[in-house]
Amino acid sequence: MNGYKFSPQAFPYENREALLDDYTPDTLVGRDDELEEYHAALLPAINGEQPDNIFLYGKAGVGKTASTKFLLNRLTADADEHDVPIHTEFLNCDGLNTSYRVGVELVNNYRSAEEQISESGYPRSQVYDMLWNELDGRGGLHIIVLDEVDHLNDDSILYQLSRARENDNIAAARVAVIGISNDLTFRDSLSPKVRSSLCERQISFSTYDASELQAVLEQRREVAFQDDALTDDVIPLCAAYGAQESGDARKALDLLLKAGDKAREERDQRSDDDHPENVTEHHVREGRKMLEREEVHRGITDLSENEQIALYALATLHAEGETPIRSRRHYQRYKKLSERAKDDSFTSRWMRDQMDDLAMLGLVSVEKKNEGLDGGQYREHDLAQDLPVVIDALSDVIDFVGVHDSVRKYVNVQE
Ligand SMILES: Nc1ncnc2c1ncn2[C@@H]1O[C@H](COP(=O)(O)OP(=O)(O)OP(=O)(O)O)[C@@H](O)[C@H]1O
Ligand SMILES: [Mg+2]
Repeated sequence: MNGYKFSPQAFPYENREALLDDYTPDTLVGRDDELEEYHAALLPAINGEQPDNIFLYGKAGVGKTASTKFLLNRLTADADEHDVPIHTEFLNCDGLNTSYRVGVELVNNYRSAEEQISESGYPRSQVYDMLWNELDGRGGLHIIVLDEVDHLNDDSILYQLSRARENDNIAAARVAVIGISNDLTFRDSLSPKVRSSLCERQISFSTYDASELQAVLEQRREVAFQDDALTDDVIPLCAAYGAQESGDARKALDLLLKAGDKAREERDQRSDDDHPENVTEHHVREGRKMLEREEVHRGITDLSENEQIALYALATLHAEGETPIRSRRHYQRYKKLSERAKDDSFTSRWMRDQMDDLAMLGLVSVEKKNEGLDGGQYREHDLAQDLPVVIDALSDVIDFVGVHDSVRKYVNVQE
């Protein structure tokens, strides 16, 4: 018998789910100015009036989605209490991508299970007509949120929804659109007529500083962790890292979760329950390393096949202790590996450009050096991340190209 056991181990959590991304907190902290502005923009709704269309923007993890859900929950509760007919629809455009699919999704959300329409088979204009019928059939105010709106490939639905009444498509109902984006260039990419109707009111969310993040984390700690499970330095450290990472609350919460998981893992490995450990600064640092590795992994798997081969070539040279290496020799290794698997390889010029891009991603380092007295310059490349992490992330391309002897010990061979 081996010693693996699965026994419930609550420590250090009271409710771990409260640290996951889809958890909606009861209250929001550190967003007073933004919430006040947002609330004011939605205020006409409760009087049965039409609010402006709103365009909400700000970087990732600054509370745009959370604030919107929070305020709309409040608004619908208050509307129910005062018998004001307000209907809200919340759609994430990631995965919907086209106006057509957003239109179909909205129609289906309004309809019963028996009346659903399929995702193809109707011309777009017919889908819009169905939507106008649904809206007018219900009347009242419809607040339609299009989260991550920059994922849309075309802006037809934005135009249609924001001008529905002016264009006489609806008469009984009113529509207000809230578009949310973390892509600050999105607004400028809209056609002028769409921009002017969608962006009647613009609200921007700033990034969190360390003390605001600390407030967000403190609040979540109360729900997520058992009393006294965290030492005092844990939250300030997560907040400091989060502030460094562009003030993203999602990343700070994720780090707190990883720290908690690390502490639990450690505790699971000991059997003496007499010494309940805390989540400490050490677990935060461990958690951070893990997140960094995950990020490197994602960065590498997102590269094209050829870029991965170029990185693989550098990894093999690194394993041989040859790095930093001149780009000419790096290129020779790349070409050899590439030709092992396929007929073509890219030029050395291409590879240099790719290395500059990979250096921006923090995966490699590139140094330009002067060639002694003769003048002229050459480049040296090195790996900027841990070799085992890089090799692990390159597993698909290694399968394709073949295992190079130098890295054999890092590759999980599954035979
Ligand atoms: N002020 C806050 N108080 C409590 N929790 C918050 C606050 N701001 C953000 N969060 C939490 O941080 C995470 C990220 O926030 P949210 O999803 O709202 O970011 P976002 O601005 O919509 O980011 P993205 O552009 O990536 O969609 C969520 O889990 C959310 O609950
Ligand atoms: Mg969001």
